[in-house]
Amino acid sequence: MEVIKVRDYNEMSEKAAEYIIEKVKANSKIRLGLATGGTPLGLYKNMVTDFQHNNTSYRRVTSFNLDEYVGLSEEHPNSYRYYMNKSLFNHINTLKSNIHLPNGNAVSLQEECIRYDQLIQDSGGIDLQILGIGQNGHIGFNEPGTPFGSKVHVVRLTESTRQANKHFFNHMNEVPTHAITMGIQSIMKSKEILLLASGGQKSVAIHKLLQGEVSQQFPASILQLHPNVTVIADEEALSLAL
Ligand code: F6R
Repeated sequence: MEVIKVRDYNEMSEKAAEYIIEKVKANSKIRLGLATGGTPLGLYKNMVTDFQHNNTSYRRVTSFNLDEYVGLSEEHPNSYRYYMNKSLFNHINTLKSNIHLPNGNAVSLQEECIRYDQLIQDSGGIDLQILGIGQNGHIGFNEPGTPFGSKVHVVRLTESTRQANKHFFNHMNEVPTHAITMGIQSIMKSKEILLLASGGQKSVAIHKLLQGEVSQQFPASILQLHPNVTVIADEEALSLAL
């Protein structure tokens, strides 16, 4: 794993945007895997600013998001589709038909998992996957204990993950109980992975990611076995690691 140490959240966001923009310029048909949450918001902001100033084109780019809540409509302000539209897609020239998220409102969630998995495979697979990391080591919504061989699947969210996400909702009881997520195997199939982390609350997770043992109890640890992972983390996130 290559580690790029940056000063703070802003520098992490700038560096990550530079990294991705360079990849998009080098391969206009790149297939990106995208994440939501607090961490990539600054990254997306920088991508939008770059688009406005430099016209980096996303017309031929395809994207697959990691996950989506079950039971929220696409227009629901807390759905990941809404988050992506608001923070990125509405402001760049991506084609709607090239944007993909799991459908958390599918009649059959099991069939939706199979469809999404197949869609990623049929596209040729993800070239560059962006990841955040949970304090318990989750990536996507793959909580501790998730089999490393997992594909796209439905998960029941743990209380700690629901708590961590509750600031996006008015009340705890509005936070969904389930989500669809790419599995660990789906993530590991990406040709390249860029993991972002900022802040002291991620320091234990980053320490375990870089120096802990590979264990299903800490899902992100599997990334140690991936041949092409870059971590961009700030000083606080790296405070226990280096
Ligand atoms: C988001 C996702 C999650 C987050 C993780 C960190 O699509 O899959 O794994 O990356 O929960 O969240 P933040 O960035 O809010 O700390």
